[in-house]
Amino acid sequence: MELKRIGVVGAGTMGNGISQAFAVAGVEVVMTDVAQAPLERGSAAIASSLERLVKKDKLSAADKAAALARIRGATDLAAVKDCELVIEAATENLPLKLKVFAELDRLAAPNAVIATNTSSISISRLAAATQRPERVIGMHFFNPVAVMALVELIRGLQTSQETYALAEAAARRVGKTPVQVRNSPGFVVNRLLCPMINEAVFALAEGLASAGEIDEAMKLGANHPIGPLALCDLIGLDVELAVMQVLFEGFKDSKYRPAPLLVEMVEAGFLGRKTGRGFFKY
Ligand code: 3HC
Repeated sequence: MELKRIGVVGAGTMGNGISQAFAVAGVEVVMTDVAQAPLERGSAAIASSLERLVKKDKLSAADKAAALARIRGATDLAAVKDCELVIEAATENLPLKLKVFAELDRLAAPNAVIATNTSSISISRLAAATQRPERVIGMHFFNPVAVMALVELIRGLQTSQETYALAEAAARRVGKTPVQVRNSPGFVVNRLLCPMINEAVFALAEGLASAGEIDEAMKLGANHPIGPLALCDLIGLDVELAVMQVLFEGFKDSKYRPAPLLVEMVEAGFLGRKTGRGFFKY
């Protein structure tokens, strides 16, 4: 079945990236957020990312305009009512996601699939907050969505094969490679990546090296495209902390304890690129 219209909940970094990917692939997108201001910021981010692709000759100006025209912003969640697939990309916070899932269950078409871009929360738990647990799945995209080729597809205990097939087709439609992952804290990528970033924060706090030196060492010594602290700034320190907390609570293993400096920086509001300051200044 050809996907015609999807809904995306949240116009933040991941929500606007996902909206852009589907719009470029020819799918109508309803992008929702709680207020007009985040919707406008999300639309501006999409326009600038598309412009980057035009400048690199990866997209024509006409395709950029067509993609932008396929995205409709809405502050009312009910706008997703005609979507076959709704991808939730709200803030990484369990009570909030449980609330959004209950609302989506009420507002989305009865046969629509509700996917979540959660980076760490249990899919089985979110599915259980709905009356359609078999139609809930994890579709975990990576930042920046326009560039990163992977989508982790996470089945909850309740997820049906039909739902999996729809999510797999959707991931392929936007040119991504799906990898099937069991529902477990942090799935695969964040289970490995976030503890490495957290360890870099410990190293920084211990004065092992400066932020710039830690990043330089990992770029040159491990061939990473950007260093772990710059990557943390890209992901968002709050998101990194949320993942570490889920790993720590999920496995009850002290090796996942969040670095105190990470906690303090989040408390200070130094969340990385999105606030202009993290381990580096922007
Ligand atoms: N939109 C469109 N194109 C973009 C873009 C965007 N938002 N961001 C980067 N690009 C393109 C650039 O135009 C450039 O294109 P080119 O190859 O044709 O020249 C290419 O990507 C590389 O960008 P830059 O030259 O500006 O800079 P870098 O070479 O440093 O690449 C990067 C930037 C792609 C972000 C690279 O540093 C990278 O791959 N970093 C690692 C990213 C990563 O690990 N992401 C996963 C985070 S974990 C996550 O998301 C999970 C979550 O749950 C926590």
